[in-house]
Amino acid sequence: MTPPERVTLAITGASGTIYAVTLLRELLRSGVAVALLISAAARVVFATEMGCELPQAPQAAKARLLELLKLADVQALLTLYAVDDWFSPVASGSNCAEVMVVCPCSMGTLAAIATGQSDHLIGRAADVTLKEGKRLIVVPRESPYSEIHLRNMLRLRQMGVTILPASPGFYHQPQSLDDLVNFVVARILDQLGVPQQLISRWGEA
Ligand SMILES: Cc1cc2nc3c(=O)[nH]c(=O)nc-3n(C[C@H](O)[C@H](O)[C@H](O)COP(=O)(O)O)c2cc1C
Repeated sequence: MTPPERVTLAITGASGTIYAVTLLRELLRSGVAVALLISAAARVVFATEMGCELPQAPQAAKARLLELLKLADVQALLTLYAVDDWFSPVASGSNCAEVMVVCPCSMGTLAAIATGQSDHLIGRAADVTLKEGKRLIVVPRESPYSEIHLRNMLRLRQMGVTILPASPGFYHQPQSLDDLVNFVVARILDQLGVPQQLISRWGEA
């Protein structure tokens, strides 16, 4: 599979900001351009889980993220859009990326995507991705799942969406939090066709 030149990455307010931050780092390191969308709730979870606030202004938030990732040299690859920026490329089928990843995906955003709600840019970008027949990957996180959550996931799967739960395996004998995070991020990169060396493949040393 050829890696995409650009990806839309939406971070929503489910627990697991570290998955998104690690995925963002790996995409940028691999030379993939990222259009980044961060929901209001994701900012709250980011502050809770990462221990630092993301500024509201897209340029300042971008600078904070690149500083956190120690990736200032790839800043041209990252564009952050406010969730009410209806003029951004991701809001239109004429200029959206080949693939969109929602990671982590809250049950609220999952429901919005499953029912075509577009009242913020993340829902709109997902709606555009689906209507244009492009690839959508969602990384849901909740426990336990209700019938509503499961029905929404089934609905999305039936539309061709990849449901890739934030459920790390343990057969690679993780020794650290990074190992668990890398397991999930490696699966997302595999789905995108982006080469990864975060974890070795089953049957390889
Ligand atoms: C610290 C924290 C953790 C949360 N974890 C989850 C979660 O794992 N899954 C989920 O669906 N919602 C979770 N929520 C609730 C969502 O953030 C909330 O439903 C929000 O409205 C989702 O909005 P969004 O989809 O626009 O990001 C969490 C909220 C906070 C503050």
